[in-house]
Amino acid sequence: MHTTPAAASSSLSSSALDLQRGASLREFNTFGLPSTAACLVRIHSEADAKRVVNDPELGRAAKFILGGGSNLVLTQDINRCVLKVEIKGRQVVETRDDAWIVEVGAGESWHDTVQWCLDQGMPGLENMALIPGTVGAAPVQNIGAYGVELKDRFESLDAVDLITGRSVTLNAAQCRFAYRDSVFKQELANKSVITRVRLRLPRPWQPVTGYLELERKMAETGISAPDARQIFQWICEVRRAKLPDPAVIGNSGSFFKNPVVTAEQCRDIIGRDPEIVHYPLEDGTFKLAAGWMIDACGWKGKSIGRAGVYEKQALVLVNRGGANGAEVVTLARAIQESVYGRFGIRLEPEPVVV
Ligand code: EPU
Repeated sequence: MHTTPAAASSSLSSSALDLQRGASLREFNTFGLPSTAACLVRIHSEADAKRVVNDPELGRAAKFILGGGSNLVLTQDINRCVLKVEIKGRQVVETRDDAWIVEVGAGESWHDTVQWCLDQGMPGLENMALIPGTVGAAPVQNIGAYGVELKDRFESLDAVDLITGRSVTLNAAQCRFAYRDSVFKQELANKSVITRVRLRLPRPWQPVTGYLELERKMAETGISAPDARQIFQWICEVRRAKLPDPAVIGNSGSFFKNPVVTAEQCRDIIGRDPEIVHYPLEDGTFKLAAGWMIDACGWKGKSIGRAGVYEKQALVLVNRGGANGAEVVTLARAIQESVYGRFGIRLEPEPVVV
């Protein structure tokens, strides 16, 4: 059991930081893993982020930035200064002929933001409904689902550099978005804190319905021209049917990235496993369905200790109750080994393992 010593928690006066020492992070990671932060600072504004940089003690300390904790596997206590971003607010900052630009505080819930934009008559995010986590975490791993990625709806973001304390604005090219990756998972990891994100919602709205599950819904219902609300509802149904709700079963979404292989490697694997689910990419490479491979190795529904493989989607690892990060990592390694043994492919974890 971790104890929380008397916190130097402060009021939200303009000069004081909202700081707590020895803070439990169990509630702040969707896997529900135990971990204690040496120091937790809640960042309510850009000014708070700057105050941390200018603080004689905190300014020098190594930092760890926490959003919604939905892409995180905590295997130990965090001996760093954890910055929990809670900056709020949503507003339309520009109406262009071809798009609305919506500025959102990094601490807002992603899903609530998808819903809010829809309610304001600004569709475009519906394919990314129900992705857990915060708006500030969305660019970090370029979240995506059902044919749309954050980068497709991104205008720019503001961040505070944790070395200089300066505010910076980055456009999409500077964020270097890639499949579940960006500069914030690479050189800028824990070096700058995202404070606000500006989303670009194209006008007129165009539905994205090319994904198999959406085509299936269209066929089932006979609705051939769904509006954004309909797509939102379908996405919520599809996700609820096969992904566990982190409020009920701890998890961090897809645990592994879908690996990308050369055409030659893909042919070789198909030769041995003709059923393997694979998708051709524009550059001639192929993406393989990691969930299918894990399932083929017989892992669905299995557990090691208190960590398990979700019954309805083998790509998702879950906390069956009271698991710690070491158990999750042990399970992940065992899965990696059996997938490597059968397919010769090394699966890479999607969440950040600390
Ligand atoms: N499959 C199986 N068995 C399984 C799981 C999957 O046979 O246990 C097969 C499915 O039948 C399907 C294929 O594998 O043919 C791919 O599975 P699915 O369509 O469920 O999508 P995914 O590739 O597993 C990716 C993203 C998800 C995103 C969905 C929809 C990654 C790592 N995951 O999953 O993102 O919601 O596509 O776009 O890219 C996340 O990142 O946390 C996440 C949930």
